[in-house]
Amino acid sequence: MVILGTGGTIAGQGQANGASVGYKAGQIGVAQLLQPIADHCLQGQFELEAEQVAQLDSKDMDIATWQQLAKACSQWLEQADVAGVVITHGTDTLEETAWFLQCVLQPSKPVVLTCAMRPATALSADGPANLRDAVVCAADGVAGVWVAAAGEVHGAQWLRKVHPYRVHAFSSGAQGPAAWVEEGQVRWVQRASTTQALPELATAAWARDAQQWPWVELVTSTAAARAAAVDALVTAGVQGLVVVGTGNGSIHQALLQALHRAMLQGVPVWRTTRCEQGQIVLAEGEQDAAVSPLSPVKARISLMLALLQKSMDQP
Ligand code: SIN
Repeated sequence: MVILGTGGTIAGQGQANGASVGYKAGQIGVAQLLQPIADHCLQGQFELEAEQVAQLDSKDMDIATWQQLAKACSQWLEQADVAGVVITHGTDTLEETAWFLQCVLQPSKPVVLTCAMRPATALSADGPANLRDAVVCAADGVAGVWVAAAGEVHGAQWLRKVHPYRVHAFSSGAQGPAAWVEEGQVRWVQRASTTQALPELATAAWARDAQQWPWVELVTSTAAARAAAVDALVTAGVQGLVVVGTGNGSIHQALLQALHRAMLQGVPVWRTTRCEQGQIVLAEGEQDAAVSPLSPVKARISLMLALLQKSMDQP
């Protein structure tokens, strides 16, 4: 099994007082994080190899790092003697990286991301147990991109960070966790990391230079929304918009005309909901290809990837 490090709080170092805030993420190397787990918790059960792909606070995650990570995953997964890949990552954009990897890799082996809400120097660091659980989960051989944290395993599609401080910071909403890790055993209740088939995506599409990726932004529909924000984005050259709608995907009337103008200029507009749980429900017989069941940040990734693929199909 291979453990790829990208930084985050799991690799964070704070002051000597053991505090859980005010630390610096992405300080400790992945090999150093892995050593005590391999020696004391896993006791040589698995052959583990560590590789440092990045060392950052995941708020600063970028396209180039995503591409590096996806390439590293696919190279390792191609090897017959590699059962799966574990990735240590910050919690703040974990759900975006998980979704990106699910879309571009659609892996036939497990890729399990893990993280921590407390730095490695905190009194009650949660990273070691999460890392141990992630390795155990990857060893279980269930294909797909998963996130192991706080004793739970979540699929890439529904997972969201829902709390800024608590150790139990992730939720898949009404979908619930896909599995629990209990004393080193994984108890699965859902063995598919997505509930929808994903579009085929050429490697050459997502591997394009970051500068060539389409510019896609979120526009949130709020009380007292103003059309000027949409017009300004279109004037500045935005190439796709994801509307974070109210309730069942409704959009403030002040934004509607501006969004219509954007579409007339060839800017695709997808619709999601601000609601944390559930997805937009269409009326009987209604069809709307622009409605996404994903959270806004994941819909943005899917729209960027769809535009990349489209540019390959219609150069
Ligand atoms: C990060 O996302 O890299 C910092 C915060 C965290 O990991 O909890």
